[in-house]
Amino acid sequence: MDRDQFLAAMRRFPSGVAVVTSMRQGIPRGMTLSAFASVTADPPTVLICVNRDARSYLNIADSGTFCVNLLAHDQRDLAVRFSGKVRDNQFDDVAFHFGTTGLPILDGTVAHFECTVVHEHHEGSHSIFAGRVLGADAQPRAPLGYFDGDFRDFTMETR
Ligand SMILES: Cc1cc2nc3c(=O)[nH]c(=O)nc-3n(C[C@H](O)[C@H](O)[C@H](O)COP(=O)(O)O)c2cc1C
Repeated sequence: MDRDQFLAAMRRFPSGVAVVTSMRQGIPRGMTLSAFASVTADPPTVLICVNRDARSYLNIADSGTFCVNLLAHDQRDLAVRFSGKVRDNQFDDVAFHFGTTGLPILDGTVAHFECTVVHEHHEGSHSIFAGRVLGADAQPRAPLGYFDGDFRDFTMETR
């Protein structure tokens, strides 16, 4: 299988955009991520795929917790900010609060999921983390989308 052909095919998959937040030694960290999926509702479980070169990887692996914040259509700036553009003091001027698990929860998102890691599977450069969802919340906002290598406005009705 040709790598570029694989990447070209994957670019045709529309997704939402998340910022996965974590804590380590009292310092919050976030990374932009689109590899997020529901695994099962019984018990509530999600998965994320994280590059082990990302600094967030150690946070998640060491703390055993992460929060998936699904961005709203007007939060492209956060998606860019947390994609490696801001390396230190990532949360300066970012509106967030701490959840009951102690994880940073971004304000103004469409939903968030506070998770504890139940499984880590290494696959090539990435780790697949399965996270048991300890708390989740949803807001009636339109989501930020990602398709063909660019952010998209997935204009849709919300309820
Ligand atoms: C739209 C978008 C989606 C991304 N999805 C993922 C992903 O699913 N998994 C991943 O490991 N990195 C993903 N990245 C790249 C990471 O955001 C980036 O490598 C990371 O923020 C760098 O982290 P560090 O500063 O902790 O090293 C994505 C970036 C963008 C812009």
